[in-house]
Amino acid sequence: MFLFCDSLIAAVFYLILLAHAFDEQKPVLTAETQEQLAFTSTWQVLGPFQIESAWGADSLERFGGFRNLQYSDEAQYRSSLAPNGMVNWSLLSGENITCSSFGARISLRVGFPHVDWTFFQQVYGWAALQYQAWARGEIIVTGPKPRAVIFYTDHLLEYWIDDELYFGGDSYAYRKAPPVIHLNPGRHRVDVRLVRDVRAMGGLGEPTIQVDLELRTVSGDLEVAREEILTADVVDGSLASPLASIALRNNGHNAIEIIEVAAADTATSTSLLSEEPLILAPGQTRPIAFNILEYSKETSSIGVRIHYRSIRGPGTIYTLTGSQKLHQRSVHEPHKITFLHPGGIVSYAILRPPSRRASHERGRDSSLPILLQLHGAGLEAESDIVAHALDPVPDLCAWVLFPTGVTPWSSDDWHAWGFADVQAAISAIPAWIERNDWGGPGADVDRWLVSGHSNGGQGTWYALTHYPDSIFAAAPVSGYLSIQNYVPYQLWQPMDPRRRSVLGASMNGYRHELLAENAKGIPILQQHGSDDDNVPAYHSRLMSQLLPLAGWHSTYAELAGEGHWFDGVMTTEPLRDFYDKHLETPARVLRPKCSTSESAGDFPPPFSLIVANPADTGSKGGVQVTHLDDPGQLGRVDVSTDCASHFMTVTTSNIVGFSIKSHDRHLSFSVDNQKIQQTSTQLHEDCLELWKDHDGLWRVLLAVRKGRQLGALEAILRSMGRFTIRYHDNTTYRTALQIARNLYQYFSADSGIECMDVHSTNQPGNMITVMTGMGLSKSLLHSFPIEIVAHGELSIRDSDGRQRLYSEDKLSAIFLRPLRDEGLEMVIWGADAESVAVAARLVPMLTGVGQPDFVVLSDSSRWRGADGALAMGFFDHAWNVSKSSFFS
Ligand SMILES: *[C@@H]1O[C@H](CO)[C@@H](O)[C@H](O)[C@H]1NC(C)=O
Ligand SMILES: *[C@@H]1O[C@H](CO)[C@@H](O)[C@H](O)[C@H]1NC(C)=O
Ligand SMILES: *[C@@H]1O[C@H](CO)[C@@H](O)[C@H](O)[C@H]1NC(C)=O
Ligand SMILES: *[C@@H]1O[C@H](CO)[C@@H](O)[C@H](O)[C@H]1NC(C)=O
Repeated sequence: MFLFCDSLIAAVFYLILLAHAFDEQKPVLTAETQEQLAFTSTWQVLGPFQIESAWGADSLERFGGFRNLQYSDEAQYRSSLAPNGMVNWSLLSGENITCSSFGARISLRVGFPHVDWTFFQQVYGWAALQYQAWARGEIIVTGPKPRAVIFYTDHLLEYWIDDELYFGGDSYAYRKAPPVIHLNPGRHRVDVRLVRDVRAMGGLGEPTIQVDLELRTVSGDLEVAREEILTADVVDGSLASPLASIALRNNGHNAIEIIEVAAADTATSTSLLSEEPLILAPGQTRPIAFNILEYSKETSSIGVRIHYRSIRGPGTIYTLTGSQKLHQRSVHEPHKITFLHPGGIVSYAILRPPSRRASHERGRDSSLPILLQLHGAGLEAESDIVAHALDPVPDLCAWVLFPTGVTPWSSDDWHAWGFADVQAAISAIPAWIERNDWGGPGADVDRWLVSGHSNGGQGTWYALTHYPDSIFAAAPVSGYLSIQNYVPYQLWQPMDPRRRSVLGASMNGYRHELLAENAKGIPILQQHGSDDDNVPAYHSRLMSQLLPLAGWHSTYAELAGEGHWFDGVMTTEPLRDFYDKHLETPARVLRPKCSTSESAGDFPPPFSLIVANPADTGSKGGVQVTHLDDPGQLGRVDVSTDCASHFMTVTTSNIVGFSIKSHDRHLSFSVDNQKIQQTSTQLHEDCLELWKDHDGLWRVLLAVRKGRQLGALEAILRSMGRFTIRYHDNTTYRTALQIARNLYQYFSADSGIECMDVHSTNQPGNMITVMTGMGLSKSLLHSFPIEIVAHGELSIRDSDGRQRLYSEDKLSAIFLRPLRDEGLEMVIWGADAESVAVAARLVPMLTGVGQPDFVVLSDSSRWRGADGALAMGFFDHAWNVSKSSFFS
């Protein structure tokens, strides 16, 4: 079937193209091709240009956008990257082309060898190897009928088909949520925006970009999106955990309701997790969670029958089937367990319970800590390379857990969504113990030894600097410290330094090099290959230098001649010794406790806690920051305790709320030189909450914005339950569908898409509202500072209480608003359909972009990127705009 579009025809196409622009090309038709899908083999390429992440600055937009430019031999465009400051169009032949009546494939390998990348890199480093370009080809649909296809776009962020923009693409080639596209017979223009990313594509050799495009005809209205059901492994004859999930895609034009996921055989029984109706909007892919209540030990696979109906049909019930082979493991082998991520989806982790020997040594009444091992970018936790990385050390006295972070890139690099997955996986261990009749030692779920490789090494730094009270040892291996240190941002478009500082501040929480002091008191082994050409050893060397400056230290093992990864990288001599030593006698968690029975050595020496975002930072020494004064700036507390007098001295900077957990009822405090007597009314579960009032005095008080609501736009990811995306017409529907697609592609997140008119009451998680024009409802908080006041007119009350008015035809904005119970709404608003798409680019998806709490964008941001923001910044604890915000 895939023989027809062979290289011969490709060559013919190419020759024709060299002679004419391809507008005049005739499709080459024979009898066999009467119903066929194909890509043109020759693509028109324009580039390279500088890039600016998801903000998307594209200088061609200033002249109407690539979509409005025509190929021409003579046309030239200005570009800072090319010789003479000019780029021309060029033609590129696709490779590995196949086409048939069922689908078509093509690979494009794009490079710009005439650019002197080597010299450019000598000056600007890896930032020089990131660029963007555009390529244009066509999809040819032959035959009499319109075709519904899905479109896989590996390594693309953005493309146009005919006049329709698709944003989000599939940067990491997950292939989870391709769009469904309905194509009429004929030719369809495809413009793809090529973006080179060093973190994903590497920093060595010629900086080329490879994208793989694939069209596949859909089969039926509802389809299983990936041919697998996510289930736990079978451990000694029964499923290790009952939760399962199957992803389904609605290929049709009408919404579909899933009525039931039933077992295919009578020995198995299943039930849907959701009690509300499960609706898949047209084109939407959703993961459907269900429980496997009983299952036959005789079968080696699970089969399900999905019953569904069209919302607009006569009510006929249809059935779709799916099945999944089950893996049998023994209880001590690493195996797959499933659990619920707080976002309402089923996730998995690989668990290795303590071995017989470790269990025997410690005894069944003991409680063993957790050894977390965080995987690198692009890896599945169930792959052998991850799940079996610790096989050479089988008898560790720990519950070894390999979390996924939900995707091979651990969602957002183990941050808001990805780390929530780690915490949920740890919490699933007690349920596993109960279900699997485990007779060995228990699990101490609050004590972790964290380790990880590469992106997981970065995740280890994140865990260590954000949850110090849970961690008794940490081993970051070949990890990077922050994206800013990995691939610097200096080749972004020129930007006002105050705008840049707002962007930078919104990423403060992931600058682990700024949070080094939080690691004080926790043993650290760092390991890095000296010849690592993927993550330079510089990252580890820098931290080994910064820790002593912060009054702490690490053991740094640089392995001479080793690269980024090698067989046994997680079980080298220094690491084995480290695991053994710290699992043998885990260090105590430090708490401010000065009871007379304990020696003076039991309370923590002076320490500091640096906090970028209270929502993702736990306590250190029992002290937890609940509110920053200005969230656009790091906050810090310095704590020292004098046990002889039961006195704790706390000084703060940029902090208005914190709590102290202490079991010592005689402890008294001074905060910023103000003496505070601990009274029983202030004590809540041994926890004293303090709040700095308007008069600068510390008291007990409550904030309006709190908990999961804190943090920049990415706070939306701290959803308790699935997302609800609301739209109001067919243009905002497209954006809503795109957001759902991207949330599923990049986070495996589940969303219900709802029309604004439908007042449904069951919104379990956070809400995303896509809106154009004037229809935005009032905020629940009547003093909320942002309002749409007229068509294309938005007003913000700044930190001085002054109203700032922005008025423009193509104005757009994205910002958070409070909902009840620490919930959030993310508003994506545009004066019209085109501008709402500009703001929608900033919905959290890839890391390193820098999205503060609110951004107001002018049309010029299409080519100026972040410099086209008219206002951006942060909301404080009262949802008022912070001082560090920017207004043009
Ligand atoms: C670009 O086009 C100009 C004008 O047609 C031509 O002189 C030049 O050689 C071309 N450059 C490249 C690299 O093809
Ligand atoms: C085409 O396929 C060959 C053989 O599988 C592979 O080596 C080559 O890298 C592919 N080319 C592209 C551009 O993907
Ligand atoms: C969008 O809705 C309007 C009015 O409701 C309708 O006239 C128009 O045809 C719709 N457009 C599309 C692309 O469905
Ligand atoms: C927030 O702003 C409103 C309106 O200006 C003001 O009344 C209120 O006191 C502010 N809240 C705080 C905590 O500053």
